[in-house]
Amino acid sequence: MAWTAVVQESDERKGVRLVTPDIDTILVKHRDAKRDALIPVLQEVQEAQGYLSREAVVRIGKHLGLPASKIYGVATFYNQFRFQPQGRFHVQVCRGTACHVKGSAAVLDAIKRELKIEPGQTSRDGTFSLEVVACIGACGLAPVINISGEFHAGVSTQKVKGIIDSYRARAAGGGSDEKAA
Ligand code: FES
Repeated sequence: MAWTAVVQESDERKGVRLVTPDIDTILVKHRDAKRDALIPVLQEVQEAQGYLSREAVVRIGKHLGLPASKIYGVATFYNQFRFQPQGRFHVQVCRGTACHVKGSAAVLDAIKRELKIEPGQTSRDGTFSLEVVACIGACGLAPVINISGEFHAGVSTQKVKGIIDSYRARAAGGGSDEKAA
Protein backbone atom coordinates (compact mmCIF):
# COMPACT_ATOMS: atom_id res chain seq x y z
CA MET A 1 0.00 0.00 0.00
CA ALA A 2 1.34 3.44 -0.90
CA TRP A 3 1.00 4.77 2.65
CA THR A 4 3.23 2.06 4.06
CA ALA A 5 5.91 2.70 1.48
CA VAL A 6 5.94 6.44 2.16
CA VAL A 7 6.12 6.01 5.92
CA GLN A 8 8.90 3.45 5.75
CA GLU A 9 10.95 5.51 3.35
CA SER A 10 10.69 8.75 5.32
CA ASP A 11 11.44 7.14 8.66
CA GLU A 12 14.35 5.13 7.31
CA ARG A 13 15.87 8.32 5.95
CA LYS A 14 15.62 9.86 9.40
CA GLY A 15 17.24 6.81 10.97
CA VAL A 16 14.39 6.14 13.39
CA ARG A 17 12.35 3.05 14.01
CA LEU A 18 9.84 2.16 11.35
CA VAL A 19 6.28 3.15 11.98
CA THR A 20 4.43 0.47 10.10
CA PRO A 21 4.73 -2.81 12.01
CA ASP A 22 4.11 -1.34 15.45
CA ILE A 23 1.27 0.94 14.53
CA ASP A 24 -0.45 -1.75 12.50
CA THR A 25 -0.37 -4.09 15.44
CA ILE A 26 -1.73 -1.45 17.78
CA LEU A 27 -4.52 -0.32 15.48
CA VAL A 28 -5.58 -3.90 14.80
CA LYS A 29 -5.80 -4.39 18.54
CA HIS A 30 -8.10 -1.37 18.69
CA ARG A 31 -10.05 -2.46 15.64
CA ASP A 32 -13.42 -1.21 16.84
CA ALA A 33 -12.11 1.69 18.89
CA LYS A 34 -14.00 4.94 19.05
CA ARG A 35 -12.77 8.43 19.77
CA ASP A 36 -12.67 7.86 23.52
CA ALA A 37 -9.84 5.37 22.93
CA LEU A 38 -7.57 8.16 21.72
CA ILE A 39 -5.42 8.48 24.85
CA PRO A 40 -4.71 4.75 25.27
CA VAL A 41 -3.93 4.43 21.55
CA LEU A 42 -1.56 7.40 21.71
CA GLN A 43 0.10 5.92 24.79
CA GLU A 44 0.62 2.57 23.11
CA VAL A 45 2.00 4.08 19.92
CA GLN A 46 4.38 6.30 21.87
CA GLU A 47 5.46 3.36 23.97
CA ALA A 48 6.21 1.39 20.81
CA GLN A 49 7.92 4.16 18.85
CA GLY A 50 9.29 6.47 21.53
CA TYR A 51 7.32 9.44 20.21
CA LEU A 52 4.29 10.35 18.12
CA SER A 53 5.43 10.95 14.58
CA ARG A 54 3.36 13.06 12.22
CA GLU A 55 2.64 9.93 10.23
CA ALA A 56 1.42 8.14 13.34
CA VAL A 57 -0.89 11.01 14.32
CA VAL A 58 -2.45 11.13 10.85
CA ARG A 59 -2.88 7.39 10.79
CA ILE A 60 -4.47 7.25 14.26
CA GLY A 61 -6.79 10.06 13.19
CA LYS A 62 -7.94 8.10 10.16
CA HIS A 63 -8.53 5.06 12.32
CA LEU A 64 -10.56 6.89 14.97
CA GLY A 65 -12.24 9.40 12.67
CA LEU A 66 -10.47 12.38 14.20
CA PRO A 67 -8.63 15.18 12.41
CA ALA A 68 -4.92 15.42 13.19
CA SER A 69 -5.45 18.94 14.55
CA LYS A 70 -7.84 17.56 17.18
CA ILE A 71 -5.33 14.86 18.16
CA TYR A 72 -2.53 17.40 18.54
CA GLY A 73 -4.87 19.56 20.59
CA VAL A 74 -5.65 16.73 22.98
CA ALA A 75 -2.13 15.29 23.11
CA THR A 76 -0.41 18.60 23.83
CA PHE A 77 -2.68 19.03 26.83
CA TYR A 78 -0.86 16.12 28.49
CA ASN A 79 2.81 16.31 29.47
CA GLN A 80 3.34 12.66 28.64
CA PHE A 81 3.26 12.91 24.85
CA ARG A 82 6.18 13.88 22.68
CA PHE A 83 6.29 14.62 18.97
CA GLN A 84 10.00 14.33 18.35
CA PRO A 85 12.29 11.31 18.67
CA GLN A 86 14.21 11.13 21.92
CA GLY A 87 17.72 12.54 21.96
CA ARG A 88 20.83 10.44 22.46
CA PHE A 89 20.54 11.37 26.13
CA HIS A 90 17.02 11.50 27.49
CA VAL A 91 16.71 13.71 30.56
CA GLN A 92 13.86 12.93 32.93
CA VAL A 93 13.21 15.42 35.71
CA CYS A 94 11.17 14.08 38.59
CA ARG A 95 8.41 16.43 39.68
CA GLY A 96 6.93 14.13 42.30
CA THR A 97 6.12 15.50 45.74
CA ALA A 98 9.41 14.73 47.50
CA CYS A 99 11.43 16.18 44.63
CA HIS A 100 9.14 19.20 44.47
CA VAL A 101 9.68 19.92 48.15
CA LYS A 102 13.46 19.74 47.58
CA GLY A 103 13.41 22.23 44.70
CA SER A 104 12.82 20.26 41.51
CA ALA A 105 10.98 23.19 39.89
CA ALA A 106 14.15 25.29 39.99
CA VAL A 107 16.21 22.33 38.77
CA LEU A 108 13.84 21.88 35.83
CA ASP A 109 14.12 25.58 34.98
CA ALA A 110 17.91 25.37 35.08
CA ILE A 111 17.90 22.34 32.79
CA LYS A 112 15.53 24.04 30.35
CA ARG A 113 17.82 27.07 30.25
CA GLU A 114 20.92 24.92 29.82
CA LEU A 115 19.46 22.76 27.04
CA LYS A 116 17.33 25.52 25.50
CA ILE A 117 14.41 23.14 25.12
CA GLU A 118 11.09 22.58 26.83
CA PRO A 119 9.78 19.25 28.15
CA GLY A 120 8.70 17.09 25.21
CA GLN A 121 11.34 18.60 22.93
CA THR A 122 14.65 17.37 21.56
CA SER A 123 17.68 19.59 21.06
CA ARG A 124 18.35 20.56 17.48
CA ASP A 125 21.51 18.45 17.33
CA GLY A 126 19.64 15.43 18.70
CA THR A 127 21.87 15.10 21.77
CA PHE A 128 19.29 15.80 24.48
CA SER A 129 15.57 15.39 24.99
CA LEU A 130 13.67 16.47 28.07
CA GLU A 131 10.74 14.99 29.92
CA VAL A 132 8.96 15.76 33.18
CA VAL A 133 7.98 12.63 35.08
CA ALA A 134 6.16 11.76 38.27
CA CYS A 135 7.89 9.99 41.17
CA ILE A 136 10.58 7.63 39.91
CA GLY A 137 10.92 5.80 43.21
CA ALA A 138 14.06 7.40 44.58
CA CYS A 139 12.46 9.94 46.92
CA GLY A 140 15.21 9.60 49.53
CA LEU A 141 17.63 11.04 46.96
CA ALA A 142 15.46 14.00 45.98
CA PRO A 143 15.62 15.97 43.88
CA VAL A 144 16.46 13.35 41.29
CA ILE A 145 17.00 13.39 37.56
CA ASN A 146 17.45 10.34 35.35
CA ILE A 147 19.53 10.69 32.21
CA SER A 148 19.19 7.66 29.95
CA GLY A 149 18.99 5.32 32.93
CA GLU A 150 21.61 7.04 35.09
CA PHE A 151 20.28 8.56 38.28
CA HIS A 152 21.63 11.83 39.64
CA ALA A 153 20.72 12.45 43.27
CA GLY A 154 20.46 15.66 45.24
CA VAL A 155 20.61 17.76 42.10
CA SER A 156 20.80 21.51 42.65
CA THR A 157 20.64 24.33 40.14
CA GLN A 158 24.37 24.79 40.65
CA LYS A 159 25.07 21.19 39.65
CA VAL A 160 23.02 21.23 36.46
CA LYS A 161 25.63 22.65 34.11
CA GLY A 162 28.31 20.22 35.28
CA ILE A 163 26.01 17.25 34.83
CA ILE A 164 24.88 18.32 31.38
CA ASP A 165 28.46 19.15 30.35
CA SER A 166 29.57 15.63 31.26
CA TYR A 167 27.07 14.24 28.75
CA ARG A 168 28.08 16.82 26.17
CA ALA A 169 31.65 15.61 26.56
CA ARG A 170 30.55 12.02 26.04
CA ALA A 171 28.57 13.02 22.95
CA ALA A 172 31.51 15.01 21.56
CA GLY A 173 33.89 12.16 22.27
CA GLY A 174 31.87 9.99 19.96
CA GLY A 175 32.43 7.11 22.30
CA SER A 176 29.95 4.71 23.78
CA ASP A 177 27.14 5.71 26.11
CA GLU A 178 28.64 3.62 28.89
CA LYS A 179 27.90 4.92 32.31
CA ALA A 180 30.16 7.60 33.75
CA ALA A 181 32.11 6.77 36.90
S1 FES B 1 9.23 12.26 44.20
FE1 FES B 1 11.01 12.27 42.99
S2 FES B 1 11.75 10.24 43.22
FE2 FES B 1 9.90 10.25 44.37
